[in-house]
Amino acid sequence: MRDTIAQYLYIVAGLAFVFAIKWMTAPTTARRGVIAGELGMVIAVVGTFARPEVTQFTWIIVGLAAGAAIGVPLAAFVPMTAMPQRTALSHAFGAMAATLVGIAEYILRQPHLDRFTMVVLGFEVLLGGLTITGSLMAFAKLQELIRGRPVVYRGQNIVNLSILAIALAGIVWLAIDPTATIVFAVVVVAAVAFGVLLIIPIGGADMPTVIALLNSYAGLSAVAMGFALDNKVLEIAGALDGSSGFILAMIMCRAMNRNFRNILFGAFGQVTMTAHDAEVDDRPVRSGTSVDGAAILDGARLVVIIPGYGMAVAQAQHKVRDLSDSLERNGTQVRFAIHPVAGRMPGHMNVLLAEADVPYDHMVELEEANELLSRADVAIVIGANDVTNPAAKNEPGSPVYGMPILDVDRAGSVLVIKRSMAPGFAGIGNELYYLANTTMLFGDAKQVVGSLVSDLGQSG
Ligand code: TAP
Repeated sequence: MRDTIAQYLYIVAGLAFVFAIKWMTAPTTARRGVIAGELGMVIAVVGTFARPEVTQFTWIIVGLAAGAAIGVPLAAFVPMTAMPQRTALSHAFGAMAATLVGIAEYILRQPHLDRFTMVVLGFEVLLGGLTITGSLMAFAKLQELIRGRPVVYRGQNIVNLSILAIALAGIVWLAIDPTATIVFAVVVVAAVAFGVLLIIPIGGADMPTVIALLNSYAGLSAVAMGFALDNKVLEIAGALDGSSGFILAMIMCRAMNRNFRNILFGAFGQVTMTAHDAEVDDRPVRSGTSVDGAAILDGARLVVIIPGYGMAVAQAQHKVRDLSDSLERNGTQVRFAIHPVAGRMPGHMNVLLAEADVPYDHMVELEEANELLSRADVAIVIGANDVTNPAAKNEPGSPVYGMPILDVDRAGSVLVIKRSMAPGFAGIGNELYYLANTTMLFGDAKQVVGSLVSDLGQSG
């Protein structure tokens, strides 16, 4: 009876996870998606409590309390700009849970471990182990606890592949002789070492993409755990996690024009300054004050705002909303152009703008934004850089070449708000700043946008 209840609850939880993913695909339904995911998790935990083999609740409650004590402050206090490394930590914890369960099951089921369960446990600890150390490395690089620069050496792929081969050979060995405890320990150690070696050739800059892929590995590890424990909800949630993480990593690679194959091996996303970038630095640009900016905006019919990482750093989203409101009061139509990799994580700009109550229908994606930009009187670039860089179209040698960009240069006038001529994430100069129709408004985004709002109020 208890088992039947548990199975029904697991199916309901699985459905909640499917709807959560579905609803999270659009900003208008994303909140509903988060609630569905949370409800699904609560139902899954209740279902687990209902299982007949669960007879002692004390340690489960201690675990839940300890997890909540770490998770709640992480969610409440970590700033949005640090979300990629926070996600990496969560993956490390999730993978650690899967790996520890895999090790415990291996020990508990001795000496009656069947071949299928053994292989499943082998993959659980392999994927889980590499995700623990891979995610911790990604966290350390993003948090700048270790150097983000790629570490590349001769024969690196051979070393990495050999360690992976040792782990896989260990799983084959265990399928033949599940009692070979030493071999199981070798698989765990090889997996943990592989996680470190997998991440060291990848630059800190590309960690968010790697994190999406590690998310996928953690999900696959959970699927294996589901098979080992005959737990439906783990199989469903793990499969959703595994596939969505993989798809997200591919989307991010495409949006950043990275080669997806390189994500596994090789110095993924290394950036070099070209001779041209060095030349660019000395040329003069036209800079102005917020009064000049307000004058350019005065009378504009269509303004497109391009937010980027700098808006997140400055926490300028509420001021940006005020600017949009002021412009609309003056009869200007305002739209926000959202590049898929603006900021440092998928959906970064959507989340910040939604926090400032910018209407969803004012946010437009790349294709529509470029159509609007060709008709816009003014484009305001707020702390964005790479996602507007014309080098992506014009300079085959550039690290951003081939990346789809927002064609800001097609607008009548361009206002760029940033603190200096410093490059963005890709470490390269931006020709946009030297164009005849561009005016640089130097300063912190929150402060400059705030001044623009007051100057607009005076001119309006
Ligand atoms: P970036 O190219 O990184 O440029 C951000 C700009 O913001 C900088 O040039 C910086 O110039 C300016 N800035 C920083 N703090 C500021 C502040 N307080 N006030 C005003 N400006 C400030 O950003 P982007 O255009 O959003 O492009 C995102 C980049 O990140 C892309 O290269 C993308 O490939 C990469 N990336 C994105 C993701 C995801 S999923 N979004 C993941 C990994 C990598 P100053 O220092 O002169 O102010």
